[in-house]
Amino acid sequence: MVKKAAILGFGTVGQGIYDAIQTHDDELQSILGEPIEIVAILVKNEDKGRAVNEGTIITTSFQDIVSIPELEIVFEAIVDCEPAFTYIQALMKKGCHIITANKKLVAHYGSELMVAAEKYGVKLRYDATVAGAVPIIGALQTLLRTNRMNSFQGILNGTSNFILTEMRTKGLSFDDALLQAQTLGYAEADPASDIEGIDAWNKLVILIRTITGNEPSTGNIHREGITSISQAFISLAEKIGLRFKHLAYFNQAPLQYWVKPVLIDASHPFYQVDGVNNSIHLDCSLAGELSFTGPGAGKLPTASALLEDLVGIYQGINAYNGQKTVKLLLNESISAEEKN
Ligand code: NDP
Ligand code: HSE
Repeated sequence: MVKKAAILGFGTVGQGIYDAIQTHDDELQSILGEPIEIVAILVKNEDKGRAVNEGTIITTSFQDIVSIPELEIVFEAIVDCEPAFTYIQALMKKGCHIITANKKLVAHYGSELMVAAEKYGVKLRYDATVAGAVPIIGALQTLLRTNRMNSFQGILNGTSNFILTEMRTKGLSFDDALLQAQTLGYAEADPASDIEGIDAWNKLVILIRTITGNEPSTGNIHREGITSISQAFISLAEKIGLRFKHLAYFNQAPLQYWVKPVLIDASHPFYQVDGVNNSIHLDCSLAGELSFTGPGAGKLPTASALLEDLVGIYQGINAYNGQKTVKLLLNESISAEEKN
């Protein structure tokens, strides 16, 4: 028997998960007991060449995906809330577990998706939406469930951190550093999302919801990107032992959250966090201060998060569908009739 899976999107992330499943087939089989087979991939442009095995369907029609019999898993790696939201709901209704990398979607429609997953009795996993390979969502959902999070701060956008690092260490211009980030597959399809702090804002929303179980009042989140930081500012700061980092911050009491560039000194836990790396520093009620650092974007680091989510689903690792309040949002479980 094989577990049938499909991928929505075949850009940096879609190709990453496809390749990772081929190269880590032995590990997956030894954990899951069965091979995973990518039977179909949804794309937008049918004219691009795609390096896939013979027999893998490449299609621009969502109907081709949703009509695959016994499809168990769908990796979602397309861009924007729609059509991803509509597609995922249809696939959940069909009984597929969903593993998504789509931050914008989970930031804006995470609660609705969590409710839908409960309703249709499927799993929703989204570790790849925050900090790339760093397993912060999984850690919060499965390993740090008793601790109260008093506050956290994070470098949550790899592209911004990469740009600031390249400008500081190599003297690259902002535009050249951004171009490199795009070439390396770190940047969003619309890189304004990275450099204007929108992507970090989305990740902050997802983290706050995961930690508190509540929807943050998103209108109140101050958001600022890195576009105002010039080479001259960076050099001047370096001379006096300071570095610019683009940070996301959350504090429970008094309630405070924001996304903006800040100057930090060598005593700060993020001073040495350079390049595409992300870092999240948690202040926990029992554990004390914990830091998680690692590659925050790119093909294989993101594939790592998606694959670990896959294994978590089949090993029954007890990550509830994400939101502590999701059961309260569900008035009643879905009837068998609605499921069909
Ligand atoms: P890319 O732009 O490289 O790829 C996007 C893919 O989605 C393409 O294959 C494109 O098709 C397909 N696509 C876009 N719109 C549609 C649509 N309406 N219907 C079908 N297919 C569609 O993006 P990434 O791979 O970088 O990112 C994908 C998602 O993962 C995004 O949501 C992003 O925010 C998120 N993400 C990205 C990370 C990264 O490091 N790049 C890390 C973590 C998350 P086609 O090939 O035909 O153009
Ligand atoms: N564009 C995003 C970043 C991808 O640079 O962090 C990873 O979420």
